[in-house]
Amino acid sequence: MIDILISENISGPFVDELSSRFQVSRQPNLWEDQAALLKAVSAARALIVRNKTDVSAELLKAGKNLIAVGRAGVGLDNIDIDSANDLGIVVTCTPDQNSISVAELTIGLMIALARKIPAANADTGAGHWNRHQFVGTELYGKTFGIIGAGKIGFLTATRARALGMRILAYDPFVSEDNVLVREAQAELVELDDLLSKSDVVSCHLPGSPKTDGLMNRKRFEKMKPTATFINTARGQVVNEKDLIEALKAGKIAGAAIDVRCAEPPKVSELDAMPNVILTPHIAAFTIEAQSRVTHVVCEDVARVLDGQPAKNVVTRFNVPQREFRN
Ligand code: MLT
Repeated sequence: MIDILISENISGPFVDELSSRFQVSRQPNLWEDQAALLKAVSAARALIVRNKTDVSAELLKAGKNLIAVGRAGVGLDNIDIDSANDLGIVVTCTPDQNSISVAELTIGLMIALARKIPAANADTGAGHWNRHQFVGTELYGKTFGIIGAGKIGFLTATRARALGMRILAYDPFVSEDNVLVREAQAELVELDDLLSKSDVVSCHLPGSPKTDGLMNRKRFEKMKPTATFINTARGQVVNEKDLIEALKAGKIAGAAIDVRCAEPPKVSELDAMPNVILTPHIAAFTIEAQSRVTHVVCEDVARVLDGQPAKNVVTRFNVPQREFRN
């Protein structure tokens, strides 16, 4: 039996500290091997994952001794929370710890798209000096539309405001008097309205059956042909085929995509498009965010193993509702 199984690439001083108190098995590639994962989890009291490990009902059931799952991050689309609730396993995550980093990457991508920075960099690096090829657009006075007005959407919107942009927001769960909406001075609008009025559309929705394929052909067609689209949330929210068609047909001017339906993605037409910026799901990958995320997940998992209530739970309970079994 081990105390903690880490099935993805999660390391640093907080994991080292955890290892000094508990028996920790670090297997950064284990998520790729379902059979080995099922076997390893059956001998663990806690599991720590990012977004790669499929924490399905099958895996949770295989974890006969599992009392805690710690998600180093905020997206819960890879974890069957209902099954964890049924089985009495505490699931923790790290809300807000990486939100600033995601917001900063989103703003970076927006500026990079508007000023064609990646293409200009590649061209100049190849020995050219084509100033006139890289005339961009200003963001000042333009409209920034956020789909999803949670913490990350809000942090991104306040930063866009600092650039002099008007903010539109679509979120069916948020009202005008929401403090985040008020602080960002965002106007809440319907999705179609946001799409047709925004110069930059940025997606900040969780992955779930309800948001799957939300950005599809019909919705890209509603956008301005001069507008750009950014996704730093979840790949499934976008129908990638429809995005490619919209870009090819000039229905939108460009896109910056950090997250994909399958990660790593297959070869795609997006790879070679000059008006597209692709990054490998790095929005939360800053030294600061990863340090906070690792700290919080390690602390909560240690608390559960020590018999204390976890602080950041997504299950209905913060202490395990099951006994150890063997
Ligand atoms: C998150 O959900 O926290 C981010 O997308 C990063 C991750 O999945 O690891």
